[in-house]
Amino acid sequence: MTNNNIYFVANWKMFGDVKSVNSLNRVIKLTKSKKYKNIKIIYCPPYTLLDRLVGKTKNYNIDIGGQDCHFDMNSGAFTGSISSTQIKKLGCKFVILGHSEKRNEGDTNFIINKKIKSALNSKLNVIFCIGETKQEKKRNKTFEVLKKQIFECLKNIKIKNNLLIAYEPVWSIGTGNVLYHDDLRIVVNKLKNIVKKKYNKHIKILYGGSVNTKNISELKKVNNIDGFLIGNASRNVNKFIDIIKKSSN
Ligand code: PGA
Repeated sequence: MTNNNIYFVANWKMFGDVKSVNSLNRVIKLTKSKKYKNIKIIYCPPYTLLDRLVGKTKNYNIDIGGQDCHFDMNSGAFTGSISSTQIKKLGCKFVILGHSEKRNEGDTNFIINKKIKSALNSKLNVIFCIGETKQEKKRNKTFEVLKKQIFECLKNIKIKNNLLIAYEPVWSIGTGNVLYHDDLRIVVNKLKNIVKKKYNKHIKILYGGSVNTKNISELKKVNNIDGFLIGNASRNVNKFIDIIKKSSN
């Protein structure tokens, strides 16, 4: 990992209820320790828990984010959706966009581009997910796919420090398969170079996909990643804390 702030994003997906809120107590305690002053924890719970988690963490070094938003930042007749403005007004600072599970539900690069614009206009920071499928990897299309996702989703967007990229190979999410060592370092390096060349901006890159308490010791050795987007393991507070502690050793 880099020597900069290390990000740990907890993506709870469609899990959790009001009882889950108390699991943050131990994480809050951890953030008070000087040893962990360089870590940035962001919880992305389902919409139903955003308000409670914002209240719970407002005096601590933990930020809250949504897992998606509508592309229209204004109010509107969009049943089932939530706008970036609504998320921002709750006190959230982040939103995940472009996650492969939302892409599976129909989000194209074009739609994601509109959602990112909406989120940035609402002054939310964006955790922008990209990743290749197993078939694309097999056909050696990884960089072609990642480049296309970056260029199309970030079209006409001025990148500042308000956007992080989460590289999540689709074949790695929820499967236990992980990209390690030089293989991961090379992808991250290329992604940073692609962004630098096109947007003249140094971008932070998180890795996501089956990050757990066992593989974190190897993953943290990859010296150019800026943190992790953690799904399954983030819902168990013991595991989440273990991952943070092992990353910081
Ligand atoms: P996982 O999910 O850690 O359960 O693989 C990661 C993600 O989908 O963001």
